[in-house]
Amino acid sequence: MLQTTISLRQLLRQKRNNISSSDRTIFDHSINQSIISTALLLRSPKIASYLANDGEPALDLFIKTCSAGPSRHYLPVLNKQQLKFSSYSWGDELKSNCFNIPEPSIKHVLSPRLLSTILIPLVGFDHLGHRVGMGGGYYDRTLSFMRNPLCQKKPLLIGIAYSVQKTQDIKPEPWDVPLDAVITEQGLTCFSVKAKHYLRNSF
Ligand SMILES: Nc1ncnc2c1ncn2[C@@H]1O[C@H](COP(=O)(O)OP(=O)(O)OP(=O)(O)O)[C@@H](O)[C@H]1O
Ligand SMILES: [Mg+2]
Repeated sequence: MLQTTISLRQLLRQKRNNISSSDRTIFDHSINQSIISTALLLRSPKIASYLANDGEPALDLFIKTCSAGPSRHYLPVLNKQQLKFSSYSWGDELKSNCFNIPEPSIKHVLSPRLLSTILIPLVGFDHLGHRVGMGGGYYDRTLSFMRNPLCQKKPLLIGIAYSVQKTQDIKPEPWDVPLDAVITEQGLTCFSVKAKHYLRNSF
């Protein structure tokens, strides 16, 4: 029987928070190395990621690497009930928002339509790329333009997670926006043809 999404979220958040700090250090290193070893930093000019919250994988090494290269790096900033993205290089000043999540203090915001890649934190994912987040609907509202079949220019959506967050129990809702790929400590899984083309021809 399918669990309700609320109890599924609780279970998966607990699994994520139960990862020991020694495993977390090893897993985070592997996740960051996997992102860096894709072709993203060569091919994707505008990449958004996030600062870890609630036990999410920390992308510090990726953010530092991206900040030193040719791609521009962005972090999400709350904008009413949606997210915009503000340019952020490692070391720039941050200021906490109403959820106590740090955001760039100087905001030059960009629409998600103009990003080439978004690295998205998640609570759960399945073998088809369906995603469950924290339940606020922020990413789904922000990315709703991607559900329009006429939309031609879409950012590549890469979920970032630990492998314990994989589940069979996701029943996607009509507003959910699926992922192109997921990266965990076990490596890259591509769900879309676009992700296979963009991420696998990297070496
Ligand atoms: N495009 C949308 N337009 C209006 N409401 C939306 C949209 N997308 C999501 N919502 C609302 O947000 C609520 C939470 O959505 P959902 O349970 O899918 O969150 P989530 O995917 O876990 O969160 P997030 O997107 O922040 O990661 C839903 O109850 C839904 O009503
Ligand atoms: Mg959703």
